[in-house]
Amino acid sequence: MMASRDKWRVYKRVCLMMFLAVVTLTVVQRGNISTGPQFQLERQTRMEISDDGDLHKKGPYALASRFWKPMKSKQGAPTTEEPHHITQDGVSKSWDITSANCSANLNFTSTEWFAGLEPNFKQFLLYRHCRYFPMTINHPEKCSGEIHLLMVVKSIITQHDRREVIRKTWGKEQVINGKRIKTLFLLGAPSNEAEKANHQKLLEYEDYIYGDILQWDFMDSFFNLTLKETHFLKWFSSYCPGVRYIFKGDDDVFVSVQNILEYLEISSDVKNIFAGDVIFKAKPIRKKDNKYYIPQALYNKTHYPPYAGGGGFLMDGPLARKLYSVSETLELYPIDDVFLGMCLEALQVVPIRHNAFKTFGLMKNKKSKLNREPCFFRSMIVVHKLLPKELMDMWKLVNSNLVCAQKVQLL
Ligand SMILES: *[C@@H]1O[C@H](CO)[C@@H](O)[C@H](O)[C@H]1NC(C)=O
Ligand SMILES: *[C@@H]1O[C@H](CO)[C@@H](O)[C@H](O)[C@H]1NC(C)=O
Ligand SMILES: *[C@@H]1O[C@H](CO)[C@@H](O)[C@H](O)[C@H]1NC(C)=O
Ligand SMILES: *[C@@H]1O[C@H](CO)[C@@H](O)[C@H](O)[C@H]1NC(C)=O
Ligand SMILES: *[C@@H]1O[C@H](CO)[C@@H](O)[C@H](O)[C@H]1NC(C)=O
Repeated sequence: MMASRDKWRVYKRVCLMMFLAVVTLTVVQRGNISTGPQFQLERQTRMEISDDGDLHKKGPYALASRFWKPMKSKQGAPTTEEPHHITQDGVSKSWDITSANCSANLNFTSTEWFAGLEPNFKQFLLYRHCRYFPMTINHPEKCSGEIHLLMVVKSIITQHDRREVIRKTWGKEQVINGKRIKTLFLLGAPSNEAEKANHQKLLEYEDYIYGDILQWDFMDSFFNLTLKETHFLKWFSSYCPGVRYIFKGDDDVFVSVQNILEYLEISSDVKNIFAGDVIFKAKPIRKKDNKYYIPQALYNKTHYPPYAGGGGFLMDGPLARKLYSVSETLELYPIDDVFLGMCLEALQVVPIRHNAFKTFGLMKNKKSKLNREPCFFRSMIVVHKLLPKELMDMWKLVNSNLVCAQKVQLL
């Protein structure tokens, strides 16, 4: 017979052992979950700037559960907190637009020419004077330090798959021969209630993982693409003093980073670089069923100034800052690439036409083999237009041990 004191001692020991076993199991399991490859999310950028030491210990699983928890305090989208400070060069380091209190301009609604316009042009004109909107997702830290090339991609909230493929292909952030390359996606607000309900939170999570999304609170519509342009120029001018060059393009194009770098190398002493698929003397389209139709009331000259197709072009940082200043003196125009052409004209800068930019379509014949010829893509800077799977396949082909019969000399 054991004394009751001994019984008590054994009981205590068993309890302690069970407790330790549970703790050990938990720790082991946690370790496995957080180190499992399928959960390894690339969010170093955000980790570096986070002042929350906890994040480093608990791993992405803890991050995920924390992200998806309902917000207790402030309502609305979580915006990146940014201290308001001014750098030595006097550049304001914060987005200074905090409210978009902008009502329709009814000044000309009773005029005859306004009454005759299509609804989308009416809407454009009613809100044309609203120049800037607040940011819902910002990354003031994105441009810190010296950056050789900033890749900037126009995207919309629902095109998550395109952003994903771009991050894996030409938009991959990397350092090539000591030259830093960074990537950003530019987005507007959800354009309807369904997008708002189903996609906004996912977008915020995507940004939480990759930290590469800028979002402004204006409706992401075709005619508001010019707002995306001007908002980016303003953002760039206040946050990016150390960026040498910018590539700006669509989210459905093929881009060769290698060829961009090569082109910039040989153009390194050219000032005011603005290179792309430039068209000179383009005529405004007057056919009403065309996507780019412009009524006489909005533009009455016979030609546009030279401009580069918005699918992809290159410019240097100092020129982007000049474009920002001059853009503020011009009225907004509903076609974003033409608007940039107007800004260039005002600066008396002539854009450079280069054959390696194919943003206005490739071969006239859609069935032409060149449209899918990797050796052709290898010699290009931008090619329009490839959807995620095609882009991935082409990227793999172009970066494989491809043997091309003759090097197409375009650069
Ligand atoms: C994680 O799980 C694997 C089996 O899936 C096991 O072999 C390994 O020891 C575990 N790792 C840790 C750190 O416990
Ligand atoms: C918006 O602007 C109008 C006039 O400019 C002003 O009367 C109104 O109070 C403003 N509303 C907000 C929410 O700031
Ligand atoms: C509308 O017209 C008035 C008077 O000409 C002017 O002061 C005002 O700025 C105009 N509104 C806008 C939004 O342009
Ligand atoms: C552009 O966005 C603003 C703000 O969301 C909106 O009021 C306006 O109607 C939009 N314009 C067009 C042409 O879609
Ligand atoms: C063209 O438009 C401008 C400004 O909108 C106007 O001042 C000018 O009179 C117009 N010219 C013609 C020929 O209609």
